[in-house]
Amino acid sequence: MANSRFFMYYFSRHRGLFKTFFFIPTTLALLTTLFILVYISNTSHLFFSHHHHRQPFRVINRKKPTVMSSSVSVSLLNVSNNSDGQVFADLPKRGGGEKVNRRSARVQLESNGNYMNNHEVFHDRDLFLEDYKQMNRSFRIYVYPHRRNDPFANVLLPVDFEPGGNYASESYFKKVLMKSHFITKDPSKADLFFLPFSIARLRHDPRIGTNGIQDFIRDYIFNISQKYPYWNQTGGADHFYVACHSIGRSAMEKAWEAKLNVIQVVCSSSYFLSGHISHKDVSLPQIWPRQGDPPELATSNRKKLAFFAGSVNSPVREKLLQVWRYDSEIYAHAGRLTTPYADELLGSKFCLHVKGFEVNTARIADSLYYGCVPVIIANHYDLPFTDILNWKSFSIVVATLDIPLLKKILKGLSSDEYLLLKSNVLKVRKHFQWHLLPVDYDAFYMVMYELWLRRSSIRVQLSTSIYSN
Ligand SMILES: *[C@@H]1O[C@H](CO)[C@@H](O)[C@H](O)[C@H]1NC(C)=O
Ligand SMILES: *[C@@H]1O[C@H](CO)[C@@H](O)[C@H](O)[C@H]1NC(C)=O
Ligand SMILES: *[C@@H]1O[C@H](CO)[C@@H](O)[C@H](O)[C@H]1NC(C)=O
Ligand SMILES: *[C@@H]1O[C@H](CO)[C@@H](O)[C@H](O)[C@H]1NC(C)=O
Ligand SMILES: *[C@@H]1O[C@H](CO)[C@@H](O)[C@H](O)[C@H]1NC(C)=O
Repeated sequence: MANSRFFMYYFSRHRGLFKTFFFIPTTLALLTTLFILVYISNTSHLFFSHHHHRQPFRVINRKKPTVMSSSVSVSLLNVSNNSDGQVFADLPKRGGGEKVNRRSARVQLESNGNYMNNHEVFHDRDLFLEDYKQMNRSFRIYVYPHRRNDPFANVLLPVDFEPGGNYASESYFKKVLMKSHFITKDPSKADLFFLPFSIARLRHDPRIGTNGIQDFIRDYIFNISQKYPYWNQTGGADHFYVACHSIGRSAMEKAWEAKLNVIQVVCSSSYFLSGHISHKDVSLPQIWPRQGDPPELATSNRKKLAFFAGSVNSPVREKLLQVWRYDSEIYAHAGRLTTPYADELLGSKFCLHVKGFEVNTARIADSLYYGCVPVIIANHYDLPFTDILNWKSFSIVVATLDIPLLKKILKGLSSDEYLLLKSNVLKVRKHFQWHLLPVDYDAFYMVMYELWLRRSSIRVQLSTSIYSN
């Protein structure tokens, strides 16, 4: 499948090169021969005798016929299998287009054939790092401008203070983006278009308020679709907005096209809710910003098994309290703590993130900051950066139904398993931190990477004439 997609992509990108039709049959014949060889090698022991058992069989990659453009090479999927049952596959590169490289993805399979990777923080580190560099170099965002005297400039501009508190992620992202090298003033160079309204500021603006947000956004989008050609070209599919407060989820109710197409970068990313579409939308981590490292991070003595504190505002939290409120190892507090929050997070092995009104809270980022392994009890949470990070390697996800089994699950982990989770927590912490001047791989860059992944897959060219005119 990857192959056929690759070829379609290849042909559509390089149609011009194929004016000389003579070479197509030659190429196809060559490829067919290679496929037959792969097939024979997998079904017969006659051809590859004893080598087959010891050494992984490898498909030899034929370099492209030299008559084609020197920047393009045709390659087959390089699949091999060694004696441990590990399958190696080389995947053709997505996007880009200058050069079609192949990259290695090492995939380990469990005995039942399921994908298995509980150790590595990244699904594929090499792939991520390579893509990240390309993203960092080439990704461009156009921000819709406004008139200097626009009465709603306050809603469209980044805040002029350092964002804080529970919903800081929205303001932080925008503030850092606007000063970053990703911004272009030339919309024809943009990969994505940013709708700069702030849901948090709309909510607090007395002229708009919670009830006026939907009308404002409908009008805003109407205005830009009249004034600029970019919205109509894709129906908004290469546009995005950012919101951390859950009110952002219903913000698009009166702008149906936006609701369907726009990339929503939101904290309340529950795939149970109809407004959120995983893989189109981006899960923004809710982070209470803190700078630097807590001084006790390395020396903390984690005596408690697990910790939770919060208001009891959902059936999930009610259930947690009902089962564990009086337990001597799992500390489940209703309401405000009398002890410092940081001490609890530093003194517990596991810290519970439990769904409240929404699937998201700042608790995951809090636990990571204090080196506590997060336990996520929030069914349907589309976890942040899940395209990149392997959540199994640094957190425990527990279904709501399994709350009574919580202690059994946590105590069932060996001390080696716990130490691995904990060391991975320390590795991923940096991805959940904001900085006014962004630092590579911090929350800002991770969100940019998630946006970059979505840039070409959803750009729909309605008609070729739109772009060539
Ligand atoms: C196929 O993949 C293996 C393992 O990644 C690599 O050693 C080999 O060179 C590859 N073969 C070709 C022709 O690219
Ligand atoms: C890889 O090899 C193992 C052991 O020889 C075998 O059980 C498994 O089916 C092979 N997997 C693939 C995808 O060929
Ligand atoms: C990303 O780009 C910024 C700004 O150009 C640069 O400072 C940083 O080193 C780059 N990071 C990587 C990993 O390429
Ligand atoms: C849309 O444009 C009209 C006319 O210029 C203006 O009065 C209104 O404030 C704009 N609305 C938004 C939300 O930008
Ligand atoms: C975009 O489409 C709408 C609806 O068809 C139309 O009213 C508007 O004029 C178009 N915008 C531009 C810039 O052509």
